[in-house]
Amino acid sequence: MKITHTLNLQLKELIKDEPNFITNLSNASALLFNHLTDVNWAGFYLWDDNDNQLVLGPFQGQVACTRIENGSGVCGSAFQSEKTHRVANVHEFPGHIACDSASNSEIVIPLYVGGNLVGVLDIDSPEFGRFTEEDQVILEEFVSVLNNYLTL
Ligand code: SME
Repeated sequence: MKITHTLNLQLKELIKDEPNFITNLSNASALLFNHLTDVNWAGFYLWDDNDNQLVLGPFQGQVACTRIENGSGVCGSAFQSEKTHRVANVHEFPGHIACDSASNSEIVIPLYVGGNLVGVLDIDSPEFGRFTEEDQVILEEFVSVLNNYLTL
């Protein structure tokens, strides 16, 4: 399915009355994984202040790498720069971390809660160039719904 704004309305409905952070991220990853076509992984890496690393959070898909250094791979780079990384071919991204060899393209968007950077949303696809500029706009809006409704 094409990614549409309906996704973000559904997300708002799912999380608006639930205060638990992990519960909401779990449902958010399930919503993405089931709504999007040609996606083999959707989930979150969350910043751990004690270990100074991103740690695997709620997700859907194959088991994945548990810890990513700040600045490493697509996730660490998006986190460090606080910029969305839309990568058409992950094999050309320096330092890409291959958790699932089926992944060929990826989008990683910094995740904020109450305006504070707390991690990233990561979505992988077996298709090259799966994520369009339009997808990026909608997925950035998805993350901003999380920013507005989540509490830590
Ligand atoms: N490919 C990511 C690692 C996480 S997995 O895709 C689930 C990266 O390069 O940071």
